Amino acid sequence: MSTSPTKLRSRAWFDNPDNIDMTALYLERYLNFGLSLEELRSGKPIIGIAQTGSDLSPCNRHHLVLAERVREGIRDMGGIALEFPVHPIQETGKRPTAGLDRNLAYLGLVETIYGYPLDGVVLTIGCDKTMPACVMAAATVNIPAIALSVGPMLNGWHKGERTGSGTIVWKARQLLAAGEIDDAEFIRLVASSAPSTGYCNTMGTATTMNSLCEALGLSLPGSAAIPAPYRDRQEVAWRTGKRIVEMVAEDLKPSDILTRDAFHNAIKVNSAIGGSTNAPIHLAAIARHVGVDLPLKDWETEGHKVPLLVNLQPAGEYLGEDYYRAGGVPAVVNQLMEQGLIAEDAMTVNGRTIGDNCRGKPIEDDKVIYPFERPLKEEAGFLVLSGNLFDAAVMKTSVIGPEFRERYLCNPDDPDAFEGPAVVFDGPEDYHHRIDDPSLGITPATLLFMRGAGPIGYPGAAEVVNMRPPAYLITEGIHALPCIGDGRQSGTSGSPSILNASPEAAAMGGLALLKTGDRVRVDLGKATVDVLIPEAELAERRAALAAAGGYRFPASQTPWQEIQRATVGQMNTGAILEGAEKYQRIAQT
Ligand code: FES
Ligand code: MG
Repeated sequence: MSTSPTKLRSRAWFDNPDNIDMTALYLERYLNFGLSLEELRSGKPIIGIAQTGSDLSPCNRHHLVLAERVREGIRDMGGIALEFPVHPIQETGKRPTAGLDRNLAYLGLVETIYGYPLDGVVLTIGCDKTMPACVMAAATVNIPAIALSVGPMLNGWHKGERTGSGTIVWKARQLLAAGEIDDAEFIRLVASSAPSTGYCNTMGTATTMNSLCEALGLSLPGSAAIPAPYRDRQEVAWRTGKRIVEMVAEDLKPSDILTRDAFHNAIKVNSAIGGSTNAPIHLAAIARHVGVDLPLKDWETEGHKVPLLVNLQPAGEYLGEDYYRAGGVPAVVNQLMEQGLIAEDAMTVNGRTIGDNCRGKPIEDDKVIYPFERPLKEEAGFLVLSGNLFDAAVMKTSVIGPEFRERYLCNPDDPDAFEGPAVVFDGPEDYHHRIDDPSLGITPATLLFMRGAGPIGYPGAAEVVNMRPPAYLITEGIHALPCIGDGRQSGTSGSPSILNASPEAAAMGGLALLKTGDRVRVDLGKATVDVLIPEAELAERRAALAAAGGYRFPASQTPWQEIQRATVGQMNTGAILEGAEKYQRIAQT
Protein backbone atom coordinates (compact mmCIF):
# COMPACT_ATOMS: atom_id res chain seq x y z
CA MET A 1 0.00 0.00 0.00
CA SER A 2 1.35 3.40 -0.96
CA THR A 3 -1.03 5.36 1.23
CA SER A 4 0.62 8.52 2.43
CA PRO A 5 -0.82 9.44 5.83
CA THR A 6 -0.30 13.14 5.22
CA LYS A 7 -2.72 12.99 2.29
CA LEU A 8 -5.55 11.45 4.24
CA ARG A 9 -8.51 13.71 4.84
CA SER A 10 -8.96 12.35 8.36
CA ARG A 11 -5.58 13.69 9.42
CA ALA A 12 -7.07 17.18 9.60
CA TRP A 13 -9.02 16.06 12.67
CA PHE A 14 -6.04 14.51 14.42
CA ASP A 15 -2.81 16.15 13.26
CA ASN A 16 -3.71 19.50 14.66
CA PRO A 17 -1.45 20.23 17.64
CA ASP A 18 -2.36 23.92 17.88
CA ASN A 19 -6.06 23.25 18.12
CA ILE A 20 -6.80 22.36 21.72
CA ASP A 21 -10.47 21.54 21.05
CA MET A 22 -9.69 19.08 18.32
CA THR A 23 -7.11 17.34 20.41
CA ALA A 24 -9.60 17.02 23.24
CA LEU A 25 -12.19 15.60 20.89
CA TYR A 26 -9.77 13.01 19.69
CA LEU A 27 -8.55 12.00 23.11
CA GLU A 28 -11.90 11.82 24.83
CA ARG A 29 -14.04 10.35 22.12
CA TYR A 30 -12.16 8.52 19.41
CA LEU A 31 -9.56 7.27 21.82
CA ASN A 32 -11.86 6.17 24.62
CA PHE A 33 -14.43 4.45 22.53
CA GLY A 34 -12.96 1.67 20.51
CA LEU A 35 -9.78 3.06 19.02
CA SER A 36 -6.32 3.15 20.56
CA LEU A 37 -3.95 6.07 20.36
CA GLU A 38 -1.58 3.82 18.49
CA GLU A 39 -4.17 3.13 15.81
CA LEU A 40 -5.04 6.78 15.43
CA ARG A 41 -1.38 7.76 15.09
CA SER A 42 -0.68 5.03 12.61
CA GLY A 43 -2.00 7.05 9.68
CA LYS A 44 -4.40 4.29 8.64
CA PRO A 45 -7.31 5.38 6.47
CA ILE A 46 -10.60 5.70 8.34
CA ILE A 47 -13.50 4.17 6.49
CA GLY A 48 -17.14 4.87 7.32
CA ILE A 49 -19.77 2.20 6.96
CA ALA A 50 -23.05 4.03 6.34
CA GLN A 51 -25.51 1.60 7.92
CA THR A 52 -29.02 1.74 6.42
CA GLY A 53 -30.26 -1.45 8.09
CA SER A 54 -32.33 -1.48 11.26
CA ASP A 55 -35.46 -3.04 12.73
CA LEU A 56 -37.42 -0.24 11.07
CA SER A 57 -35.91 -1.00 7.66
CA PRO A 58 -36.15 -4.79 7.33
CA CYS A 59 -35.26 -4.85 3.63
CA ASN A 60 -31.80 -3.58 4.58
CA ARG A 61 -31.61 -5.24 8.00
CA HIS A 62 -29.20 -7.92 6.79
CA HIS A 63 -26.58 -5.16 6.45
CA LEU A 64 -26.21 -5.38 10.24
CA VAL A 65 -24.70 -8.83 9.58
CA LEU A 66 -22.87 -7.94 6.37
CA ALA A 67 -21.19 -4.94 8.02
CA GLU A 68 -19.12 -7.35 10.11
CA ARG A 69 -17.63 -8.78 6.92
CA VAL A 70 -17.11 -5.27 5.53
CA ARG A 71 -15.21 -4.38 8.71
CA GLU A 72 -12.99 -7.44 8.35
CA GLY A 73 -12.22 -6.49 4.77
CA ILE A 74 -11.32 -2.95 5.83
CA ARG A 75 -9.08 -4.23 8.64
CA ASP A 76 -7.44 -6.83 6.40
CA MET A 77 -6.31 -4.03 4.11
CA GLY A 78 -5.03 -1.88 6.95
CA GLY A 79 -7.95 0.47 7.42
CA ILE A 80 -10.00 1.50 10.43
CA ALA A 81 -13.77 0.96 10.22
CA LEU A 82 -16.33 3.28 11.81
CA GLU A 83 -19.95 2.23 11.37
CA PHE A 84 -22.72 4.80 11.79
CA PRO A 85 -26.50 4.89 11.20
CA VAL A 86 -28.32 6.45 8.27
CA HIS A 87 -31.87 7.78 8.70
CA PRO A 88 -34.09 4.75 7.95
CA ILE A 89 -36.03 4.58 4.67
CA GLN A 90 -38.42 1.64 4.49
CA GLU A 91 -40.56 1.66 1.37
CA THR A 92 -43.46 -0.24 2.86
CA GLY A 93 -43.59 1.23 6.33
CA LYS A 94 -43.19 4.99 6.13
CA ARG A 95 -46.10 7.43 6.27
CA PRO A 96 -47.02 9.37 4.29
CA THR A 97 -44.35 8.24 1.78
CA ALA A 98 -40.85 6.83 1.80
CA GLY A 99 -40.16 9.38 -0.95
CA LEU A 100 -40.16 12.06 1.71
CA ASP A 101 -37.21 10.42 3.43
CA ARG A 102 -34.83 10.17 0.48
CA ASN A 103 -33.84 13.83 0.68
CA LEU A 104 -33.79 13.75 4.49
CA ALA A 105 -31.45 10.75 4.57
CA TYR A 106 -29.37 12.52 1.92
CA LEU A 107 -29.02 15.63 4.09
CA GLY A 108 -28.08 13.62 7.15
CA LEU A 109 -25.54 11.55 5.30
CA VAL A 110 -23.89 14.60 3.70
CA GLU A 111 -23.43 16.10 7.15
CA THR A 112 -22.04 12.86 8.53
CA ILE A 113 -19.58 12.14 5.75
CA TYR A 114 -18.48 15.76 5.52
CA GLY A 115 -18.27 16.51 9.22
CA TYR A 116 -16.38 13.49 10.54
CA PRO A 117 -12.85 12.27 9.89
CA LEU A 118 -13.67 9.81 7.12
CA ASP A 119 -11.36 9.02 4.20
CA GLY A 120 -13.78 6.76 2.39
CA VAL A 121 -17.25 5.34 2.84
CA VAL A 122 -19.09 2.08 2.21
CA LEU A 123 -22.71 2.76 1.28
CA THR A 124 -25.04 -0.05 2.32
CA ILE A 125 -27.90 -0.01 -0.16
CA GLY A 126 -31.01 -2.10 -0.77
CA CYS A 127 -34.61 -0.94 -0.35
CA ASP A 128 -35.73 1.48 -3.07
CA LYS A 129 -34.58 4.91 -1.89
CA THR A 130 -31.54 3.83 0.09
CA MET A 131 -29.46 3.65 -3.09
CA PRO A 132 -30.26 7.17 -4.34
CA ALA A 133 -30.09 8.74 -0.86
CA CYS A 134 -26.62 7.26 -0.24
CA VAL A 135 -25.24 7.86 -3.72
CA MET A 136 -26.56 11.44 -3.83
CA ALA A 137 -24.73 12.14 -0.57
CA ALA A 138 -21.50 10.49 -1.73
CA ALA A 139 -21.72 12.53 -4.94
CA THR A 140 -22.09 15.78 -3.01
CA VAL A 141 -19.20 15.15 -0.62
CA ASN A 142 -17.09 13.29 -3.19
CA ILE A 143 -14.77 11.17 -1.09
CA PRO A 144 -14.01 7.61 -2.26
CA ALA A 145 -17.22 5.62 -1.97
CA ILE A 146 -18.33 2.11 -2.83
CA ALA A 147 -21.85 0.69 -2.60
CA LEU A 148 -22.72 -2.70 -1.17
CA SER A 149 -26.13 -4.06 -2.04
CA VAL A 150 -27.92 -6.14 0.60
CA GLY A 151 -29.24 -8.33 -2.23
CA PRO A 152 -32.73 -9.54 -3.07
CA MET A 153 -34.82 -11.94 -1.02
CA LEU A 154 -35.00 -15.57 -2.05
CA ASN A 155 -37.74 -16.45 -4.52
CA GLY A 156 -41.27 -16.60 -3.14
CA TRP A 157 -43.42 -19.67 -3.86
CA HIS A 158 -47.12 -20.45 -3.56
CA LYS A 159 -48.66 -23.67 -4.83
CA GLY A 160 -45.71 -24.35 -7.08
CA GLU A 161 -45.61 -20.88 -8.65
CA ARG A 162 -43.17 -18.05 -8.10
CA THR A 163 -44.69 -15.22 -6.09
CA GLY A 164 -42.86 -11.93 -6.42
CA SER A 165 -42.80 -9.35 -3.66
CA GLY A 166 -45.01 -6.39 -4.47
CA THR A 167 -46.20 -7.83 -7.77
CA ILE A 168 -48.26 -10.49 -6.02
CA VAL A 169 -49.99 -7.75 -3.99
CA TRP A 170 -51.50 -6.18 -7.12
CA LYS A 171 -52.66 -9.59 -8.30
CA ALA A 172 -53.98 -10.62 -4.88
CA ARG A 173 -55.92 -7.36 -4.58
CA GLN A 174 -57.62 -8.06 -7.88
CA LEU A 175 -58.45 -11.62 -6.81
CA LEU A 176 -59.85 -10.32 -3.52
CA ALA A 177 -61.86 -7.59 -5.27
CA ALA A 178 -63.28 -10.21 -7.64
CA GLY A 179 -64.21 -12.46 -4.69
CA GLU A 180 -61.93 -15.29 -5.86
CA ILE A 181 -59.95 -15.48 -2.61
CA ASP A 182 -60.73 -14.64 1.03
CA ASP A 183 -58.76 -12.51 3.48
CA ALA A 184 -56.75 -15.42 4.89
CA GLU A 185 -55.68 -16.56 1.42
CA PHE A 186 -54.84 -12.97 0.55
CA ILE A 187 -52.40 -12.77 3.49
CA ARG A 188 -50.89 -16.20 2.70
CA LEU A 189 -50.35 -15.24 -0.90
CA VAL A 190 -48.71 -11.92 -0.07
CA ALA A 191 -46.53 -13.35 2.74
CA SER A 192 -45.26 -16.13 0.47
CA SER A 193 -43.58 -13.53 -1.72
CA ALA A 194 -41.21 -12.35 1.03
CA PRO A 195 -39.57 -15.54 2.33
CA SER A 196 -36.21 -14.21 3.56
CA THR A 197 -34.09 -11.24 4.42
CA GLY A 198 -33.28 -8.89 1.53
CA TYR A 199 -35.12 -6.49 -0.74
CA CYS A 200 -38.05 -7.21 -3.07
CA ASN A 201 -37.23 -10.13 -5.36
CA THR A 202 -39.07 -8.70 -8.39
CA MET A 203 -37.73 -6.16 -10.88
CA GLY A 204 -39.13 -3.41 -8.68
CA THR A 205 -37.40 -0.22 -7.72
CA ALA A 206 -34.96 -1.98 -5.39
CA THR A 207 -33.66 -4.54 -7.92
CA THR A 208 -33.61 -1.72 -10.45
CA MET A 209 -31.61 0.75 -8.35
CA ASN A 210 -29.16 -1.90 -7.12
CA SER A 211 -28.63 -3.08 -10.70
CA LEU A 212 -28.17 0.49 -11.91
CA CYS A 213 -25.69 1.14 -9.11
CA GLU A 214 -23.55 -1.65 -10.54
CA ALA A 215 -24.12 -0.37 -14.09
CA LEU A 216 -23.00 3.09 -12.96
CA GLY A 217 -19.79 1.46 -11.72
CA LEU A 218 -20.36 2.11 -8.01
CA SER A 219 -20.50 -1.48 -6.77
CA LEU A 220 -18.27 -4.46 -7.47
CA PRO A 221 -19.02 -6.22 -10.77
CA GLY A 222 -21.48 -9.08 -10.45
CA SER A 223 -22.49 -8.09 -6.93
CA ALA A 224 -25.92 -6.48 -7.36
CA ALA A 225 -27.97 -9.61 -7.99
CA ILE A 226 -26.54 -11.94 -5.32
CA PRO A 227 -29.46 -12.93 -3.05
CA ALA A 228 -29.15 -11.62 0.49
CA PRO A 229 -28.79 -14.98 2.30
CA TYR A 230 -26.24 -16.49 -0.13
CA ARG A 231 -22.67 -17.21 0.89
CA ASP A 232 -21.46 -15.11 -2.07
CA ARG A 233 -23.15 -12.08 -0.50
CA GLN A 234 -20.96 -12.41 2.60
CA GLU A 235 -17.90 -12.74 0.43
CA VAL A 236 -18.66 -9.66 -1.64
CA ALA A 237 -19.17 -7.70 1.60
CA TRP A 238 -15.61 -8.61 2.61
CA ARG A 239 -14.26 -7.74 -0.85
CA THR A 240 -16.10 -4.41 -0.73
CA GLY A 241 -14.42 -3.59 2.58
CA LYS A 242 -11.02 -4.47 1.16
CA ARG A 243 -11.56 -2.49 -1.99
CA ILE A 244 -12.61 0.79 -0.36
CA VAL A 245 -9.22 0.96 1.40
CA GLU A 246 -7.50 0.64 -1.97
CA MET A 247 -9.82 3.26 -3.45
CA VAL A 248 -8.72 5.73 -0.79
CA ALA A 249 -5.08 5.07 -1.70
CA GLU A 250 -5.93 5.54 -5.38
CA ASP A 251 -8.12 8.58 -4.62
CA LEU A 252 -10.86 7.10 -6.82
CA LYS A 253 -13.87 9.30 -6.16
CA PRO A 254 -17.57 9.32 -7.19
CA SER A 255 -16.88 12.14 -9.67
CA ASP A 256 -14.39 9.84 -11.47
CA ILE A 257 -17.09 7.20 -11.88
CA LEU A 258 -20.39 9.05 -12.21
CA THR A 259 -19.80 10.51 -15.67
CA ARG A 260 -22.36 11.19 -18.37
CA ASP A 261 -21.28 7.95 -20.07
CA ALA A 262 -21.96 6.04 -16.86
CA PHE A 263 -25.48 7.48 -16.63
CA HIS A 264 -26.17 6.63 -20.26
CA ASN A 265 -24.95 3.09 -19.64
CA ALA A 266 -27.33 2.87 -16.69
CA ILE A 267 -30.27 4.13 -18.80
CA LYS A 268 -29.65 1.39 -21.37
CA VAL A 269 -29.33 -1.26 -18.69
CA ASN A 270 -32.60 -0.02 -17.20
CA SER A 271 -34.41 -0.72 -20.47
CA ALA A 272 -32.84 -4.16 -20.82
CA ILE A 273 -33.77 -5.19 -17.29
CA GLY A 274 -37.26 -3.67 -17.47
CA GLY A 275 -36.39 -1.28 -14.67
CA SER A 276 -38.66 0.87 -12.55
CA THR A 277 -40.13 4.23 -13.55
CA ASN A 278 -38.63 5.56 -10.32
CA ALA A 279 -35.16 5.27 -11.88
CA PRO A 280 -35.38 8.49 -13.94
CA ILE A 281 -36.17 10.47 -10.79
CA HIS A 282 -33.30 9.00 -8.78
CA LEU A 283 -30.70 9.10 -11.56
CA ALA A 284 -31.61 12.74 -12.27
CA ALA A 285 -31.09 13.50 -8.58
CA ILE A 286 -27.69 11.77 -8.48
CA ALA A 287 -26.61 13.44 -11.72
CA ARG A 288 -27.48 16.89 -10.41
CA HIS A 289 -25.56 16.35 -7.19
CA VAL A 290 -22.46 15.23 -9.09
CA GLY A 291 -22.83 17.99 -11.69
CA VAL A 292 -23.71 15.91 -14.76
CA ASP A 293 -26.27 17.18 -17.26
CA LEU A 294 -28.90 14.46 -17.64
CA PRO A 295 -32.16 15.80 -19.11
CA LEU A 296 -35.21 13.55 -18.82
CA LYS A 297 -35.36 13.32 -22.62
CA ASP A 298 -32.11 11.28 -22.48
CA TRP A 299 -34.21 8.39 -21.18
CA GLU A 300 -36.02 8.29 -24.47
CA THR A 301 -33.10 9.03 -26.81
CA GLU A 302 -30.69 6.65 -25.04
CA GLY A 303 -33.08 4.06 -23.70
CA HIS A 304 -36.36 3.74 -25.54
CA LYS A 305 -35.16 1.54 -28.38
CA VAL A 306 -33.25 -0.87 -26.16
CA PRO A 307 -35.12 -4.19 -25.89
CA LEU A 308 -36.18 -6.02 -22.74
CA LEU A 309 -33.83 -8.93 -22.01
CA VAL A 310 -34.51 -9.81 -18.39
CA ASN A 311 -37.55 -11.99 -17.78
CA LEU A 312 -38.37 -10.91 -14.23
CA GLN A 313 -41.75 -10.10 -12.74
CA PRO A 314 -43.68 -7.80 -13.15
CA ALA A 315 -42.94 -7.65 -16.91
CA GLY A 316 -41.91 -11.32 -17.03
CA GLU A 317 -41.91 -14.57 -15.06
CA TYR A 318 -38.84 -15.03 -12.88
CA LEU A 319 -37.38 -13.58 -9.66
CA GLY A 320 -34.13 -12.48 -8.02
CA GLU A 321 -32.48 -15.85 -7.49
CA ASP A 322 -33.03 -16.71 -11.15
CA TYR A 323 -31.59 -13.35 -12.24
CA TYR A 324 -28.41 -14.03 -10.26
CA ARG A 325 -28.02 -17.57 -11.58
CA ALA A 326 -28.57 -16.36 -15.14
CA GLY A 327 -25.62 -13.98 -14.91
CA GLY A 328 -26.98 -10.76 -13.36
CA VAL A 329 -25.87 -7.32 -14.48
CA PRO A 330 -22.58 -8.36 -16.21
CA ALA A 331 -24.43 -10.74 -18.56
CA VAL A 332 -26.92 -7.99 -19.45
CA VAL A 333 -24.16 -5.42 -19.97
CA ASN A 334 -22.25 -7.85 -22.20
CA GLN A 335 -25.32 -8.31 -24.43
CA LEU A 336 -25.61 -4.53 -24.82
CA MET A 337 -21.88 -4.18 -25.27
CA GLU A 338 -21.85 -6.63 -28.18
CA GLN A 339 -24.25 -4.25 -29.94
CA GLY A 340 -22.02 -1.26 -29.26
CA LEU A 341 -24.55 0.23 -26.87
CA ILE A 342 -22.29 0.59 -23.83
CA ALA A 343 -19.62 3.24 -23.26
CA GLU A 344 -16.98 0.67 -22.38
CA ASP A 345 -14.42 3.09 -20.97
CA ALA A 346 -16.57 4.13 -18.01
CA MET A 347 -14.52 3.63 -14.83
CA THR A 348 -15.83 1.50 -11.96
CA VAL A 349 -15.00 1.05 -8.28
CA ASN A 350 -12.68 -1.88 -8.88
CA GLY A 351 -10.36 0.39 -10.85
CA ARG A 352 -11.23 -1.25 -14.15
CA THR A 353 -13.65 -0.12 -16.83
CA ILE A 354 -17.13 -1.54 -17.22
CA GLY A 355 -15.98 -2.97 -20.54
CA ASP A 356 -13.15 -4.91 -18.92
CA ASN A 357 -15.44 -6.10 -16.14
CA CYS A 358 -18.25 -7.36 -18.34
CA ARG A 359 -16.77 -8.34 -21.70
CA GLY A 360 -17.63 -11.93 -22.55
CA LYS A 361 -19.76 -12.51 -19.44
CA PRO A 362 -22.15 -15.25 -20.56
CA ILE A 363 -25.86 -15.72 -20.11
CA GLU A 364 -26.18 -18.83 -17.94
CA ASP A 365 -29.91 -19.32 -18.46
CA ASP A 366 -31.55 -17.84 -21.54
CA LYS A 367 -35.05 -18.32 -20.17
CA VAL A 368 -34.23 -15.63 -17.59
CA ILE A 369 -31.87 -13.37 -19.54
CA TYR A 370 -32.67 -13.37 -23.24
CA PRO A 371 -29.99 -12.76 -25.86
CA PHE A 372 -30.17 -9.39 -27.60
CA GLU A 373 -31.03 -11.00 -30.96
CA ARG A 374 -34.11 -12.66 -29.46
CA PRO A 375 -35.45 -10.23 -26.83
CA LEU A 376 -38.61 -10.51 -24.75
CA LYS A 377 -39.88 -7.19 -26.10
CA GLU A 378 -38.61 -4.58 -28.48
CA GLU A 379 -38.31 -0.93 -27.42
CA ALA A 380 -38.52 -1.54 -23.70
CA GLY A 381 -37.40 1.89 -22.53
CA PHE A 382 -39.45 4.87 -21.50
CA LEU A 383 -41.28 7.39 -23.57
CA VAL A 384 -41.09 10.94 -22.27
CA LEU A 385 -44.45 12.59 -22.89
CA SER A 386 -45.63 16.19 -22.72
CA GLY A 387 -48.68 18.31 -23.57
CA ASN A 388 -51.12 20.74 -22.04
CA LEU A 389 -51.52 18.71 -18.84
CA PHE A 390 -47.80 18.60 -17.94
CA ASP A 391 -44.35 19.40 -19.31
CA ALA A 392 -42.92 15.92 -18.76
CA ALA A 393 -44.03 12.46 -17.72
CA VAL A 394 -42.70 8.97 -18.34
CA MET A 395 -44.29 5.79 -19.58
CA LYS A 396 -42.90 2.28 -19.53
CA THR A 397 -44.25 0.93 -22.82
CA SER A 398 -42.96 -2.60 -22.22
CA VAL A 399 -45.83 -3.34 -19.81
CA ILE A 400 -48.42 -2.78 -22.53
CA GLY A 401 -49.58 -6.22 -23.57
CA PRO A 402 -51.13 -7.11 -26.94
CA GLU A 403 -54.63 -7.35 -25.45
CA PHE A 404 -54.32 -3.83 -24.11
CA ARG A 405 -53.06 -2.49 -27.41
CA GLU A 406 -56.02 -4.04 -29.13
CA ARG A 407 -58.51 -2.46 -26.75
CA TYR A 408 -57.09 1.06 -26.96
CA LEU A 409 -54.61 1.55 -29.70
CA CYS A 410 -55.82 -0.26 -32.78
CA ASN A 411 -57.39 2.55 -34.69
CA PRO A 412 -56.33 1.68 -38.23
CA ASP A 413 -55.72 5.36 -39.11
CA ASP A 414 -53.63 6.15 -36.09
CA PRO A 415 -52.55 3.05 -34.21
CA ASP A 416 -50.56 4.97 -31.63
CA ALA A 417 -53.31 7.33 -30.48
CA PHE A 418 -56.24 6.83 -28.19
CA GLU A 419 -58.83 9.03 -26.54
CA GLY A 420 -61.19 8.69 -23.65
CA PRO A 421 -63.11 10.50 -20.95
CA ALA A 422 -61.21 11.31 -17.78
CA VAL A 423 -62.17 10.32 -14.25
CA VAL A 424 -60.10 12.39 -11.84
CA PHE A 425 -59.08 11.52 -8.29
CA ASP A 426 -57.46 13.94 -5.82
CA GLY A 427 -54.99 11.81 -3.92
CA PRO A 428 -55.05 8.13 -2.96
CA GLU A 429 -57.69 8.49 -0.23
CA ASP A 430 -60.16 9.98 -2.71
CA TYR A 431 -59.43 7.13 -5.11
CA HIS A 432 -59.92 4.41 -2.47
CA HIS A 433 -63.23 5.94 -1.37
CA ARG A 434 -64.73 6.32 -4.81
CA ILE A 435 -63.23 3.79 -7.23
CA ASP A 436 -66.03 1.24 -6.83
CA ASP A 437 -68.77 3.89 -6.96
CA PRO A 438 -70.87 3.03 -10.04
CA SER A 439 -72.06 6.65 -10.38
CA LEU A 440 -68.55 7.57 -11.66
CA GLY A 441 -69.52 5.69 -14.80
CA ILE A 442 -66.10 4.13 -15.36
CA THR A 443 -66.07 1.97 -18.51
CA PRO A 444 -63.32 0.05 -20.33
CA ALA A 445 -62.76 3.29 -22.32
CA THR A 446 -62.11 5.51 -19.29
CA LEU A 447 -58.74 7.08 -18.52
CA LEU A 448 -58.07 7.27 -14.76
CA PHE A 449 -56.23 10.34 -13.43
CA MET A 450 -54.48 10.72 -10.11
CA ARG A 451 -53.34 14.18 -8.98
CA GLY A 452 -52.27 15.74 -5.72
CA ALA A 453 -49.74 12.90 -5.43
CA GLY A 454 -46.50 14.68 -6.35
CA PRO A 455 -43.47 15.72 -4.27
CA ILE A 456 -45.37 18.72 -2.84
CA GLY A 457 -49.00 17.54 -2.93
CA TYR A 458 -48.46 14.24 -1.12
CA PRO A 459 -45.08 15.07 0.27
CA GLY A 460 -42.36 12.92 -1.24
CA ALA A 461 -44.72 11.74 -4.01
CA ALA A 462 -46.90 8.71 -3.42
CA GLU A 463 -46.66 5.46 -5.42
CA VAL A 464 -50.34 5.56 -6.29
CA VAL A 465 -50.74 6.26 -10.00
CA ASN A 466 -51.28 2.58 -10.74
CA MET A 467 -54.98 2.31 -9.89
CA ARG A 468 -56.95 -0.89 -10.25
CA PRO A 469 -60.22 -0.63 -12.18
CA PRO A 470 -63.51 -0.83 -10.26
CA ALA A 471 -64.39 -4.33 -9.05
CA TYR A 472 -67.28 -4.62 -11.50
CA LEU A 473 -64.87 -4.21 -14.44
CA ILE A 474 -62.38 -6.71 -13.01
CA THR A 475 -65.12 -9.35 -12.83
CA GLU A 476 -65.75 -8.62 -16.51
CA GLY A 477 -62.09 -9.34 -17.24
CA ILE A 478 -60.82 -5.74 -17.47
CA HIS A 479 -57.68 -5.87 -15.31
CA ALA A 480 -56.14 -2.53 -16.18
CA LEU A 481 -57.15 0.91 -17.37
CA PRO A 482 -54.71 3.58 -18.51
CA CYS A 483 -53.66 5.62 -15.51
CA ILE A 484 -52.10 9.08 -15.68
CA GLY A 485 -50.87 11.13 -12.76
CA ASP A 486 -48.44 13.34 -10.91
CA GLY A 487 -47.45 10.64 -8.44
CA ARG A 488 -45.10 7.73 -8.81
CA GLN A 489 -45.81 4.08 -9.42
CA SER A 490 -44.39 1.13 -7.61
CA GLY A 491 -41.78 -0.60 -9.72
CA THR A 492 -43.44 -3.89 -8.83
CA SER A 493 -46.65 -2.90 -10.61
CA GLY A 494 -47.19 -3.83 -14.23
CA SER A 495 -49.82 -1.13 -14.84
CA PRO A 496 -49.75 0.77 -18.15
CA SER A 497 -49.36 4.22 -16.60
CA ILE A 498 -48.13 7.67 -17.52
CA LEU A 499 -46.60 8.99 -14.36
CA ASN A 500 -44.19 11.33 -12.61
CA ALA A 501 -46.07 14.18 -14.37
CA SER A 502 -44.26 17.45 -13.81
CA PRO A 503 -45.18 20.06 -12.80
CA GLU A 504 -47.64 18.46 -10.41
CA ALA A 505 -51.13 19.78 -9.65
CA ALA A 506 -49.91 21.20 -6.34
CA ALA A 507 -47.42 23.31 -8.31
CA MET A 508 -50.31 24.42 -10.56
CA GLY A 509 -49.41 22.12 -13.42
CA GLY A 510 -52.08 21.47 -16.06
CA LEU A 511 -53.45 18.42 -14.21
CA ALA A 512 -54.88 20.84 -11.61
CA LEU A 513 -57.25 22.14 -14.30
CA LEU A 514 -58.62 18.80 -15.46
CA LYS A 515 -62.23 17.84 -14.69
CA THR A 516 -63.97 14.48 -14.69
CA GLY A 517 -65.64 14.07 -18.06
CA ASP A 518 -63.04 16.01 -20.06
CA ARG A 519 -61.80 14.08 -23.08
CA VAL A 520 -58.09 13.40 -23.14
CA ARG A 521 -55.99 12.26 -26.09
CA VAL A 522 -52.84 10.21 -25.66
CA ASP A 523 -50.61 9.87 -28.72
CA LEU A 524 -47.74 7.47 -28.13
CA GLY A 525 -46.38 8.15 -31.63
CA LYS A 526 -46.00 11.85 -30.93
CA ALA A 527 -45.40 11.33 -27.19
CA THR A 528 -48.17 13.75 -26.22
CA VAL A 529 -51.02 13.87 -23.74
CA ASP A 530 -53.58 16.65 -24.13
CA VAL A 531 -56.97 17.51 -22.71
CA LEU A 532 -59.21 18.34 -25.67
CA ILE A 533 -60.54 21.68 -24.54
CA PRO A 534 -59.75 25.10 -25.99
CA GLU A 535 -56.77 27.08 -24.77
CA ALA A 536 -59.07 29.93 -23.66
CA GLU A 537 -61.11 27.67 -21.42
CA LEU A 538 -57.95 26.25 -19.84
CA ALA A 539 -56.82 29.82 -19.13
CA GLU A 540 -60.20 30.60 -17.52
CA ARG A 541 -59.97 27.51 -15.34
CA ARG A 542 -56.45 28.46 -14.32
CA ALA A 543 -57.47 31.99 -13.35
CA ALA A 544 -60.45 30.70 -11.35
CA LEU A 545 -58.32 28.16 -9.50
CA ALA A 546 -55.64 30.74 -8.73
CA ALA A 547 -58.30 33.14 -7.43
CA ALA A 548 -59.60 30.37 -5.17
CA GLY A 549 -56.13 29.96 -3.63
CA GLY A 550 -54.69 27.33 -5.96
CA TYR A 551 -54.87 23.55 -5.91
CA ARG A 552 -55.64 22.30 -2.39
CA PHE A 553 -53.61 19.61 -0.68
CA PRO A 554 -53.44 18.38 2.91
CA ALA A 555 -51.47 20.44 5.46
CA SER A 556 -48.00 19.32 6.57
CA GLN A 557 -47.94 17.08 9.61
CA THR A 558 -44.24 17.37 10.50
CA PRO A 559 -41.54 20.06 10.30
CA TRP A 560 -39.67 18.14 7.64
CA GLN A 561 -42.77 17.91 5.42
CA GLU A 562 -42.98 21.69 5.51
CA ILE A 563 -39.26 22.21 4.82
CA GLN A 564 -39.25 19.66 1.97
CA ARG A 565 -42.39 21.19 0.40
CA ALA A 566 -40.81 24.63 0.44
CA THR A 567 -37.57 23.50 -1.19
CA VAL A 568 -38.24 20.42 -3.33
CA GLY A 569 -38.14 20.49 -7.13
CA GLN A 570 -40.27 18.48 -9.53
CA MET A 571 -39.72 14.84 -10.49
CA ASN A 572 -38.49 15.50 -14.03
CA THR A 573 -35.41 17.14 -12.48
CA GLY A 574 -34.93 14.61 -9.70
CA ALA A 575 -37.13 16.11 -6.94
CA ILE A 576 -34.00 17.22 -5.11
CA LEU A 577 -33.81 20.04 -2.60
CA GLU A 578 -33.34 23.02 -4.87
CA GLY A 579 -30.30 24.87 -3.62
CA ALA A 580 -28.51 21.75 -2.38
CA GLU A 581 -27.04 21.23 -5.82
CA LYS A 582 -24.55 24.06 -5.45
CA TYR A 583 -22.76 22.16 -2.68
CA GLN A 584 -20.71 19.89 -4.91
CA ARG A 585 -17.46 18.08 -4.19
CA ILE A 586 -17.36 19.74 -0.80
CA ALA A 587 -14.64 17.48 0.59
CA GLN A 588 -12.26 19.13 -1.88
CA THR A 589 -13.14 22.72 -1.02
FE1 FES B 1 -38.00 -2.57 0.52
FE2 FES B 1 -39.36 -3.54 -1.70
S1 FES B 1 -40.15 -2.76 0.17
S2 FES B 1 -37.27 -3.36 -1.34
MG1 MG C 1 -41.51 1.15 -4.37
